[in-house]
Amino acid sequence: MRSPHHLTVGILGAGHLGMAIAARLLGTDYDVRLATRRPARVTAEQIAPFLPGVEAVPRTEAYASDIVIAAIPLRRYRSLPAEPLAGRIVVDVMNYLPLIDGRIPEIDDDPRSTSELVQQHLPGSFVVRTLNHIGAREISTDTRPSGEEGRRALAVASDRPEATARVSALLDAIGFDAVDAGPLANGRLFAPGTPIFHGRWTADGLRTALADALAR
Ligand SMILES: NC(=O)c1ccc[n+]([C@@H]2O[C@H](COP(=O)([O-])OP(=O)(O)OC[C@H]3O[C@@H](n4cnc5c(N)ncnc54)[C@H](OP(=O)(O)O)[C@@H]3O)[C@@H](O)[C@H]2O)c1
Repeated sequence: MRSPHHLTVGILGAGHLGMAIAARLLGTDYDVRLATRRPARVTAEQIAPFLPGVEAVPRTEAYASDIVIAAIPLRRYRSLPAEPLAGRIVVDVMNYLPLIDGRIPEIDDDPRSTSELVQQHLPGSFVVRTLNHIGAREISTDTRPSGEEGRRALAVASDRPEATARVSALLDAIGFDAVDAGPLANGRLFAPGTPIFHGRWTADGLRTALADALAR
């Protein structure tokens, strides 16, 4: 993994969440580029009015980023390619919302958290679960400078402490505290339907809520 300075962040998805994250990354030390399934030229036209300065790239280029944020519908997670993403940090923001996504039998039939399924699909990647329990609009409205009282915190789960640290630094750069939620399997503690998912937390509150959820 490269030094924290000038890391590249490739965002897959130019929807509500992908665009909101890209906007926050502008002006930070991270080099951000964004890709959809469409040609980069088409994505560029789509994002230019909202994200001047953010480069649209083909997906293959986005895969080659230090941190790849998969801001795509969960039903499409199998379109993430394992080989090009091997060795990369892949941030999984994808929620299973059957009312929106429809039912996905392989998820209904599997007791594991959805991030564990994503990790199984991407065995060579370092999957990090976070940014799923905040609304796209709140990515711009709820940010605060580091150290400010009441700053909103987000949970971060992964099986690689270094990946957790890298993504926690990114969260700090875009205006949020990060709370280490432990291994990737703990992503279930802040999945849709949980109190953590539906709440707004400071770091102390989130640590307590995670401990309570683990103890249940
Ligand atoms: N919206 C929120 O407030 C929010 C909050 C937390 C988490 N999330 C999660 O974030 C994810 C994205 O949500 P959203 O609301 O931003 O969705 P969205 O508005 O529907 O956008 C999805 C984007 O993904 C692109 N896309 C689809 N498949 C792709 C692929 N294989 N490679 C690259 N791009 C692909 C789509 O573009 P093309 O069709 O042009 O490729 C589109 O730009 C979902 O999993 C959702 O559960 C959303």
